[in-house]
Amino acid sequence: MTRFDNDREEPAAPAKASAAQSDASSPPTPTAASAERAGASSAPTAVPALAAGSQVSWTDRHSRVLMNAFGPPARAFVSGDGCRLTDDSGRRYLDLLAGIAVVALGHACPAVTAALADQARTLGHVSNFFATPPQIELAERLAGLLPVPAKVFFTNSGTEANEAALKLTRLTGRHRVVAAEGSFHGRTFGALSLTWTEKYRAPFEPLPGEVVFVPYGDVEALAAVMDETVAAIVLEPIQGENGVVVPPAGYLAAARRLADRHGALLWFDEIQSGLGRTGDWFAHTASGAVPDLVTVAKALGNGFPIGACLAAGPAADLFGPGAHGTTFGGNPLAARVGLAVLDGIGPLLPHVRELGEWLKGELAALPGVAEVRGRGLFIGVRLAAPAAGRLAAAALEAGIIVNAPRPDVIRLIPPLVITQADLGELLAAWPALYAAATA
Ligand SMILES: Cc1ncc(COP(=O)(O)O)c(C=O)c1O
Repeated sequence: MTRFDNDREEPAAPAKASAAQSDASSPPTPTAASAERAGASSAPTAVPALAAGSQVSWTDRHSRVLMNAFGPPARAFVSGDGCRLTDDSGRRYLDLLAGIAVVALGHACPAVTAALADQARTLGHVSNFFATPPQIELAERLAGLLPVPAKVFFTNSGTEANEAALKLTRLTGRHRVVAAEGSFHGRTFGALSLTWTEKYRAPFEPLPGEVVFVPYGDVEALAAVMDETVAAIVLEPIQGENGVVVPPAGYLAAARRLADRHGALLWFDEIQSGLGRTGDWFAHTASGAVPDLVTVAKALGNGFPIGACLAAGPAADLFGPGAHGTTFGGNPLAARVGLAVLDGIGPLLPHVRELGEWLKGELAALPGVAEVRGRGLFIGVRLAAPAAGRLAAAALEAGIIVNAPRPDVIRLIPPLVITQADLGELLAAWPALYAAATA
Protein backbone atom coordinates (compact mmCIF):
# COMPACT_ATOMS: atom_id res chain seq x y z
CA MET A 1 0.00 0.00 0.00
CA THR A 2 1.49 3.31 -0.99
CA ARG A 3 0.65 6.84 0.01
CA PHE A 4 -1.39 7.01 -3.19
CA ASP A 5 -3.69 4.12 -2.36
CA ASN A 6 -5.72 6.43 -0.27
CA ASP A 7 -4.41 9.75 0.85
CA ARG A 8 -4.31 9.80 4.65
CA GLU A 9 -6.31 12.98 4.53
CA GLU A 10 -9.24 11.33 2.92
CA PRO A 11 -12.03 8.90 3.71
CA ALA A 12 -11.61 5.35 2.50
CA ALA A 13 -15.31 4.67 2.20
CA PRO A 14 -18.53 6.63 2.08
CA ALA A 15 -20.02 4.83 5.04
CA LYS A 16 -18.68 4.97 8.58
CA ALA A 17 -15.41 3.06 8.56
CA SER A 18 -15.34 -0.18 10.53
CA ALA A 19 -12.57 -0.91 13.01
CA ALA A 20 -10.88 -2.98 10.33
CA GLN A 21 -11.02 -0.08 7.87
CA SER A 22 -9.55 2.20 10.49
CA ASP A 23 -6.48 0.01 10.42
CA ALA A 24 -5.88 1.12 6.85
CA SER A 25 -4.20 4.24 8.19
CA SER A 26 -1.70 4.11 11.00
CA PRO A 27 -3.26 4.40 14.44
CA PRO A 28 -1.99 7.33 16.48
CA THR A 29 1.41 6.59 17.95
CA PRO A 30 1.24 6.46 21.77
CA THR A 31 2.66 9.56 23.40
CA ALA A 32 5.36 9.44 26.04
CA ALA A 33 2.66 10.27 28.59
CA SER A 34 0.36 7.47 27.51
CA ALA A 35 3.30 5.06 27.40
CA GLU A 36 4.20 6.11 30.91
CA ARG A 37 0.65 5.54 32.08
CA ALA A 38 0.91 2.08 30.56
CA GLY A 39 4.04 1.46 32.63
CA ALA A 40 6.55 1.86 29.82
CA SER A 41 9.66 4.02 29.97
CA SER A 42 8.96 7.69 29.32
CA ALA A 43 12.43 8.27 27.83
CA PRO A 44 12.07 9.48 24.24
CA THR A 45 13.76 7.34 21.62
CA ALA A 46 16.80 9.23 20.39
CA VAL A 47 16.98 9.81 16.64
CA PRO A 48 20.35 8.37 15.61
CA ALA A 49 22.58 11.05 14.10
CA LEU A 50 23.56 10.54 10.49
CA ALA A 51 27.23 10.42 9.60
CA ALA A 52 28.54 13.35 7.59
CA GLY A 53 28.17 12.66 3.87
CA SER A 54 25.62 9.93 4.59
CA GLN A 55 23.83 8.57 1.53
CA VAL A 56 20.61 7.87 3.41
CA SER A 57 17.69 8.93 1.20
CA TRP A 58 15.38 11.85 1.92
CA THR A 59 12.50 9.43 2.37
CA ASP A 60 14.43 7.48 5.03
CA ARG A 61 15.45 10.68 6.76
CA HIS A 62 11.80 11.77 6.67
CA SER A 63 10.75 8.62 8.49
CA ARG A 64 13.41 9.12 11.17
CA VAL A 65 12.43 12.61 12.16
CA LEU A 66 8.91 13.44 11.02
CA MET A 67 5.90 12.15 12.91
CA ASN A 68 4.23 9.32 11.09
CA ALA A 69 0.94 11.13 10.50
CA PHE A 70 1.09 10.71 6.72
CA GLY A 71 2.84 7.35 6.28
CA PRO A 72 6.05 7.01 4.31
CA PRO A 73 6.44 9.57 1.52
CA ALA A 74 6.23 8.13 -1.99
CA ARG A 75 8.81 10.54 -3.41
CA ALA A 76 10.93 13.49 -2.30
CA PHE A 77 10.49 16.51 -4.58
CA VAL A 78 13.13 19.17 -4.89
CA SER A 79 11.69 21.60 -7.44
CA GLY A 80 8.67 22.40 -9.56
CA ASP A 81 7.70 24.49 -12.55
CA GLY A 82 4.19 24.87 -13.91
CA CYS A 83 2.55 21.45 -13.93
CA ARG A 84 5.83 19.56 -13.46
CA LEU A 85 7.68 18.37 -10.37
CA THR A 86 11.26 17.10 -10.17
CA ASP A 87 12.28 14.49 -7.62
CA ASP A 88 15.61 14.06 -5.83
CA SER A 89 16.90 11.80 -8.59
CA GLY A 90 16.14 14.40 -11.26
CA ARG A 91 13.08 12.56 -12.61
CA ARG A 92 10.20 14.73 -13.85
CA TYR A 93 6.51 14.15 -13.11
CA LEU A 94 3.26 15.55 -14.46
CA ASP A 95 1.41 16.86 -11.40
CA LEU A 96 -2.36 16.33 -11.62
CA LEU A 97 -2.83 16.70 -7.85
CA ALA A 98 -1.37 20.22 -7.42
CA GLY A 99 -0.62 19.72 -3.72
CA ILE A 100 -4.32 18.76 -3.24
CA ALA A 101 -5.92 21.58 -5.25
CA VAL A 102 -3.48 24.20 -3.98
CA VAL A 103 -1.05 25.11 -6.75
CA ALA A 104 -3.67 26.63 -9.06
CA LEU A 105 -1.21 28.84 -10.97
CA GLY A 106 1.43 26.12 -11.18
CA HIS A 107 4.64 25.51 -9.27
CA ALA A 108 7.05 28.44 -8.92
CA CYS A 109 4.56 30.77 -10.62
CA PRO A 110 6.63 33.86 -11.55
CA ALA A 111 3.89 36.37 -10.64
CA VAL A 112 3.40 34.84 -7.19
CA THR A 113 7.13 34.57 -6.59
CA ALA A 114 7.63 38.22 -7.59
CA ALA A 115 4.79 39.42 -5.35
CA LEU A 116 6.13 37.45 -2.39
CA ALA A 117 9.71 38.63 -2.89
CA ASP A 118 8.63 42.24 -3.32
CA GLN A 119 6.50 42.16 -0.18
CA ALA A 120 9.28 40.41 1.78
CA ARG A 121 11.58 43.30 0.87
CA THR A 122 8.92 45.83 1.90
CA LEU A 123 7.07 44.61 4.99
CA GLY A 124 6.77 40.97 6.06
CA HIS A 125 4.68 41.06 9.18
CA VAL A 126 3.00 43.26 11.73
CA SER A 127 0.50 42.08 14.31
CA ASN A 128 -3.22 42.26 13.75
CA PHE A 129 -3.25 45.24 16.12
CA PHE A 130 -2.34 47.14 12.96
CA ALA A 131 -3.58 47.34 9.40
CA THR A 132 -1.61 46.79 6.22
CA PRO A 133 -2.72 47.77 2.70
CA PRO A 134 -2.32 44.25 1.17
CA GLN A 135 -4.56 42.73 3.85
CA ILE A 136 -7.30 45.29 3.27
CA GLU A 137 -7.02 44.98 -0.51
CA LEU A 138 -7.25 41.20 -0.37
CA ALA A 139 -10.27 41.34 1.94
CA GLU A 140 -11.95 43.75 -0.49
CA ARG A 141 -11.20 41.48 -3.44
CA LEU A 142 -12.47 38.35 -1.68
CA ALA A 143 -15.61 40.04 -0.40
CA GLY A 144 -16.20 41.31 -3.93
CA LEU A 145 -16.46 37.73 -5.19
CA LEU A 146 -19.81 37.42 -3.38
CA PRO A 147 -22.93 39.17 -4.71
CA VAL A 148 -23.68 40.68 -1.27
CA PRO A 149 -21.55 42.82 1.08
CA ALA A 150 -19.23 40.64 3.18
CA LYS A 151 -16.40 40.84 5.70
CA VAL A 152 -13.34 38.65 6.05
CA PHE A 153 -11.34 36.95 8.80
CA PHE A 154 -7.95 35.67 7.60
CA THR A 155 -6.33 32.43 8.75
CA ASN A 156 -3.35 30.25 7.80
CA SER A 157 -5.16 27.15 6.57
CA GLY A 158 -8.50 25.66 5.63
CA THR A 159 -9.18 24.03 8.94
CA GLU A 160 -8.57 27.35 10.71
CA ALA A 161 -10.97 29.11 8.35
CA ASN A 162 -13.56 26.53 9.38
CA GLU A 163 -12.73 27.04 13.07
CA ALA A 164 -13.41 30.73 12.63
CA ALA A 165 -16.71 30.03 10.88
CA LEU A 166 -17.72 27.51 13.55
CA LYS A 167 -17.01 30.01 16.30
CA LEU A 168 -19.14 32.54 14.41
CA THR A 169 -22.05 30.11 14.35
CA ARG A 170 -21.86 29.83 18.16
CA LEU A 171 -22.34 33.57 18.45
CA THR A 172 -25.83 33.19 17.00
CA GLY A 173 -26.76 31.77 20.41
CA ARG A 174 -27.49 28.36 18.89
CA HIS A 175 -25.27 25.27 19.10
CA ARG A 176 -26.40 22.66 16.62
CA VAL A 177 -24.72 22.40 13.24
CA VAL A 178 -25.98 20.22 10.40
CA ALA A 179 -23.22 18.70 8.26
CA ALA A 180 -23.23 16.11 5.49
CA GLU A 181 -22.25 12.48 5.40
CA GLY A 182 -19.04 12.11 3.42
CA SER A 183 -17.89 15.59 4.44
CA PHE A 184 -14.32 16.67 5.06
CA HIS A 185 -13.77 20.00 6.81
CA GLY A 186 -10.34 19.61 8.42
CA ARG A 187 -8.46 18.10 11.33
CA THR A 188 -8.49 20.61 14.17
CA PHE A 189 -11.04 19.83 16.87
CA GLY A 190 -13.87 22.05 15.69
CA ALA A 191 -13.44 21.24 12.00
CA LEU A 192 -13.03 17.57 12.86
CA SER A 193 -16.36 17.63 14.65
CA LEU A 194 -17.92 18.53 11.26
CA THR A 195 -15.96 15.87 9.37
CA TRP A 196 -17.83 12.64 8.71
CA THR A 197 -15.07 10.05 8.48
CA GLU A 198 -15.18 7.85 11.57
CA LYS A 199 -11.52 6.81 11.50
CA TYR A 200 -10.43 10.45 11.76
CA ARG A 201 -12.89 11.22 14.54
CA ALA A 202 -12.91 8.16 16.76
CA PRO A 203 -9.41 8.46 18.33
CA PHE A 204 -10.13 12.05 19.40
CA GLU A 205 -13.63 11.84 20.78
CA PRO A 206 -15.29 13.49 22.56
CA LEU A 207 -15.33 16.21 19.91
CA PRO A 208 -16.86 19.62 20.57
CA GLY A 209 -20.24 20.67 19.44
CA GLU A 210 -23.53 19.17 18.62
CA VAL A 211 -23.27 18.06 15.01
CA VAL A 212 -25.98 16.22 13.08
CA PHE A 213 -24.98 14.45 9.87
CA VAL A 214 -27.46 14.00 7.03
CA PRO A 215 -27.03 12.20 3.67
CA TYR A 216 -25.42 14.57 1.17
CA GLY A 217 -27.72 15.74 -1.61
CA ASP A 218 -30.95 14.65 0.11
CA VAL A 219 -33.26 17.65 0.60
CA GLU A 220 -35.86 15.71 2.59
CA ALA A 221 -33.26 14.40 5.02
CA LEU A 222 -31.98 17.93 5.50
CA ALA A 223 -35.49 19.30 6.04
CA ALA A 224 -36.19 16.58 8.60
CA VAL A 225 -33.44 17.73 11.00
CA MET A 226 -34.03 21.47 10.67
CA ASP A 227 -35.56 23.37 13.55
CA GLU A 228 -35.00 26.56 15.52
CA THR A 229 -32.01 25.08 17.41
CA VAL A 230 -29.86 24.81 14.26
CA ALA A 231 -27.15 27.47 14.09
CA ALA A 232 -25.85 26.54 10.64
CA ILE A 233 -25.88 24.12 7.75
CA VAL A 234 -22.34 23.44 6.51
CA LEU A 235 -21.86 21.90 3.07
CA GLU A 236 -19.12 21.44 0.51
CA PRO A 237 -20.82 22.54 -2.75
CA ILE A 238 -18.94 19.61 -4.33
CA GLN A 239 -17.45 17.05 -1.94
CA GLY A 240 -13.76 16.65 -2.67
CA GLU A 241 -12.29 14.12 -0.29
CA ASN A 242 -15.38 11.94 -0.71
CA GLY A 243 -14.44 11.43 -4.36
CA VAL A 244 -15.69 14.58 -6.12
CA VAL A 245 -19.39 14.14 -5.41
CA VAL A 246 -21.70 16.69 -7.08
CA PRO A 247 -25.09 17.16 -5.37
CA PRO A 248 -28.31 17.01 -7.41
CA ALA A 249 -29.40 20.25 -9.10
CA GLY A 250 -31.38 22.41 -6.70
CA TYR A 251 -29.83 20.97 -3.52
CA LEU A 252 -27.82 24.05 -2.54
CA ALA A 253 -30.77 26.35 -3.27
CA ALA A 254 -33.02 24.12 -1.15
CA ALA A 255 -30.47 24.32 1.67
CA ARG A 256 -30.66 28.12 1.38
CA ARG A 257 -34.47 28.05 1.67
CA LEU A 258 -34.34 25.69 4.67
CA ALA A 259 -31.73 27.82 6.43
CA ASP A 260 -33.91 30.90 5.87
CA ARG A 261 -37.04 29.16 7.09
CA HIS A 262 -35.38 28.21 10.40
CA GLY A 263 -33.19 31.26 10.92
CA ALA A 264 -29.97 29.28 10.47
CA LEU A 265 -26.77 30.31 8.69
CA LEU A 266 -25.83 28.66 5.40
CA TRP A 267 -22.11 27.95 5.25
CA PHE A 268 -20.34 26.69 2.14
CA ASP A 269 -16.89 25.18 2.61
CA GLU A 270 -15.19 26.17 -0.67
CA ILE A 271 -11.72 25.33 0.56
CA GLN A 272 -11.17 22.74 -2.14
CA SER A 273 -13.90 23.61 -4.65
CA GLY A 274 -13.51 27.39 -4.67
CA LEU A 275 -11.37 30.05 -6.33
CA GLY A 276 -11.59 28.90 -9.92
CA ARG A 277 -11.34 25.13 -9.52
CA THR A 278 -14.74 24.56 -11.18
CA GLY A 279 -14.34 27.38 -13.72
CA ASP A 280 -16.35 29.76 -11.54
CA TRP A 281 -15.03 31.70 -8.59
CA PHE A 282 -17.03 29.38 -6.36
CA ALA A 283 -18.56 25.95 -6.95
CA HIS A 284 -21.82 27.25 -5.52
CA THR A 285 -22.01 30.25 -7.92
CA ALA A 286 -24.11 28.47 -10.55
CA SER A 287 -26.65 27.32 -7.93
CA GLY A 288 -27.76 30.89 -7.27
CA ALA A 289 -27.73 30.14 -3.52
CA VAL A 290 -26.04 32.98 -1.64
CA PRO A 291 -24.39 31.72 1.55
CA ASP A 292 -23.92 33.56 4.86
CA LEU A 293 -20.48 32.02 5.38
CA VAL A 294 -17.85 30.89 2.88
CA THR A 295 -14.51 29.38 3.82
CA VAL A 296 -11.56 29.34 1.41
CA ALA A 297 -7.88 28.40 1.60
CA LYS A 298 -5.78 26.05 -0.59
CA ALA A 299 -5.59 27.86 -3.97
CA LEU A 300 -5.60 31.29 -2.34
CA GLY A 301 -1.92 30.93 -1.46
CA ASN A 302 -0.72 28.78 -4.38
CA GLY A 303 1.34 27.08 -1.66
CA PHE A 304 1.77 29.97 0.75
CA PRO A 305 -0.31 29.19 3.87
CA ILE A 306 -3.45 31.33 3.91
CA GLY A 307 -7.15 30.81 4.45
CA ALA A 308 -10.15 33.04 4.98
CA CYS A 309 -13.63 33.00 6.42
CA LEU A 310 -16.06 35.29 4.56
CA ALA A 311 -19.27 36.31 6.27
CA ALA A 312 -22.22 38.16 4.74
CA GLY A 313 -25.24 39.88 6.24
CA PRO A 314 -25.62 39.94 10.03
CA ALA A 315 -23.02 37.14 10.35
CA ALA A 316 -20.37 39.62 9.18
CA ASP A 317 -20.68 41.51 12.46
CA LEU A 318 -20.82 38.60 14.91
CA PHE A 319 -17.13 38.85 15.86
CA GLY A 320 -16.39 41.77 18.13
CA PRO A 321 -12.95 42.78 19.44
CA GLY A 322 -11.31 39.84 21.21
CA ALA A 323 -13.79 37.24 19.95
CA HIS A 324 -11.21 35.50 17.80
CA GLY A 325 -7.57 36.00 16.87
CA THR A 326 -4.51 34.92 14.93
CA THR A 327 -0.87 35.98 14.86
CA PHE A 328 -0.09 35.31 11.22
CA GLY A 329 -3.53 35.31 9.58
CA GLY A 330 -3.62 37.72 6.64
CA ASN A 331 -0.17 39.14 7.16
CA PRO A 332 1.25 41.25 4.31
CA LEU A 333 3.21 38.36 2.79
CA ALA A 334 0.19 36.08 2.63
CA ALA A 335 -2.08 38.87 1.46
CA ARG A 336 0.22 39.93 -1.40
CA VAL A 337 0.37 36.33 -2.53
CA GLY A 338 -3.43 36.11 -2.34
CA LEU A 339 -3.77 39.22 -4.49
CA ALA A 340 -1.37 37.82 -7.10
CA VAL A 341 -3.28 34.53 -7.09
CA LEU A 342 -6.66 36.21 -7.64
CA ASP A 343 -5.13 38.27 -10.48
CA GLY A 344 -3.90 35.04 -12.05
CA ILE A 345 -7.06 32.97 -11.60
CA GLY A 346 -9.56 35.47 -13.06
CA PRO A 347 -8.41 35.21 -16.68
CA LEU A 348 -8.15 31.41 -16.40
CA LEU A 349 -11.84 30.77 -15.64
CA PRO A 350 -13.00 30.23 -19.26
CA HIS A 351 -9.97 27.99 -19.89
CA VAL A 352 -10.84 25.88 -16.82
CA ARG A 353 -14.47 25.47 -17.97
CA GLU A 354 -13.56 24.53 -21.55
CA LEU A 355 -10.66 22.25 -20.70
CA GLY A 356 -12.71 20.52 -18.00
CA GLU A 357 -15.58 19.76 -20.40
CA TRP A 358 -13.14 18.43 -23.00
CA LEU A 359 -11.31 16.31 -20.41
CA LYS A 360 -14.51 14.79 -19.04
CA GLY A 361 -15.51 13.72 -22.56
CA GLU A 362 -12.10 12.16 -23.23
CA LEU A 363 -12.01 10.37 -19.87
CA ALA A 364 -15.50 8.90 -20.34
CA ALA A 365 -14.28 7.01 -23.42
CA LEU A 366 -11.35 5.34 -21.64
CA PRO A 367 -11.26 1.67 -20.60
CA GLY A 368 -12.45 0.92 -17.06
CA VAL A 369 -14.19 4.28 -16.59
CA ALA A 370 -17.67 3.86 -15.12
CA GLU A 371 -18.47 7.54 -14.50
CA VAL A 372 -16.81 10.94 -14.79
CA ARG A 373 -18.10 13.59 -12.40
CA GLY A 374 -17.24 17.10 -11.32
CA ARG A 375 -16.91 20.49 -12.98
CA GLY A 376 -14.03 22.41 -14.49
CA LEU A 377 -10.73 20.92 -13.34
CA PHE A 378 -12.32 19.27 -10.29
CA ILE A 379 -12.89 15.78 -11.65
CA GLY A 380 -13.56 12.38 -10.13
CA VAL A 381 -13.18 9.33 -12.34
CA ARG A 382 -15.13 6.37 -10.97
CA LEU A 383 -13.62 3.10 -12.08
CA ALA A 384 -15.46 -0.09 -12.93
CA ALA A 385 -13.18 -1.90 -10.44
CA PRO A 386 -11.91 -0.84 -6.99
CA ALA A 387 -8.41 -0.36 -8.44
CA ALA A 388 -7.86 3.36 -7.87
CA GLY A 389 -4.99 2.91 -5.41
CA ARG A 390 -3.14 0.57 -7.75
CA LEU A 391 -3.81 2.86 -10.72
CA ALA A 392 -2.43 5.86 -8.83
CA ALA A 393 0.67 3.86 -7.86
CA ALA A 394 1.19 2.73 -11.48
CA ALA A 395 0.74 6.31 -12.65
CA LEU A 396 3.40 7.51 -10.22
CA GLU A 397 5.79 4.91 -11.55
CA ALA A 398 4.98 6.22 -15.03
CA GLY A 399 5.69 9.81 -13.95
CA ILE A 400 2.10 11.05 -13.47
CA ILE A 401 0.74 12.15 -10.09
CA VAL A 402 -2.94 11.49 -9.40
CA ASN A 403 -4.64 10.37 -6.23
CA ALA A 404 -7.31 7.97 -5.09
CA PRO A 405 -9.63 9.49 -2.50
CA ARG A 406 -11.84 6.38 -2.68
CA PRO A 407 -11.01 2.79 -3.63
CA ASP A 408 -12.83 3.23 -6.94
CA VAL A 409 -12.21 6.94 -7.64
CA ILE A 410 -9.27 8.76 -9.19
CA ARG A 411 -9.32 12.49 -8.48
CA LEU A 412 -7.89 14.98 -10.97
CA ILE A 413 -7.24 18.46 -9.55
CA PRO A 414 -4.31 19.75 -11.61
CA PRO A 415 -2.93 23.28 -11.71
CA LEU A 416 -5.48 25.44 -13.54
CA VAL A 417 -2.79 26.49 -16.02
CA ILE A 418 -2.56 22.95 -17.40
CA THR A 419 -2.95 22.45 -21.15
CA GLN A 420 -4.65 19.90 -23.38
CA ALA A 421 -1.21 18.60 -24.36
CA ASP A 422 -0.29 17.98 -20.70
CA LEU A 423 -3.55 16.16 -20.04
CA GLY A 424 -3.05 14.16 -23.23
CA GLU A 425 -0.17 12.41 -21.46
CA LEU A 426 -2.60 10.97 -18.91
CA LEU A 427 -5.11 9.99 -21.59
CA ALA A 428 -2.41 8.20 -23.61
CA ALA A 429 -1.06 6.38 -20.57
CA TRP A 430 -4.47 5.43 -19.13
CA PRO A 431 -5.18 2.11 -20.96
CA ALA A 432 -1.86 0.64 -19.79
CA LEU A 433 -2.29 2.06 -16.27
CA TYR A 434 -5.79 0.61 -15.93
CA ALA A 435 -4.61 -2.74 -17.29
CA ALA A 436 -1.72 -2.81 -14.80
CA ALA A 437 -4.04 -1.83 -11.94
CA THR A 438 -6.53 -4.60 -12.71
CA ALA A 439 -4.10 -7.36 -13.78
C1 LIG B 1 -13.37 20.95 1.83
C2 LIG B 1 -12.17 21.07 2.75
N1 LIG B 1 -12.30 21.73 3.91
C3 LIG B 1 -11.26 21.87 4.75
C4 LIG B 1 -10.03 21.33 4.48
C5 LIG B 1 -8.88 21.50 5.44
O1 LIG B 1 -7.97 22.39 4.91
P1 LIG B 1 -6.46 22.42 5.49
O2 LIG B 1 -5.85 21.11 5.13
O3 LIG B 1 -5.82 23.61 4.81
O4 LIG B 1 -6.56 22.62 6.96
C6 LIG B 1 -9.86 20.61 3.28
C7 LIG B 1 -8.56 19.97 2.96
O5 LIG B 1 -8.47 19.06 2.16
C8 LIG B 1 -10.95 20.47 2.40
O6 LIG B 1 -10.84 19.80 1.25
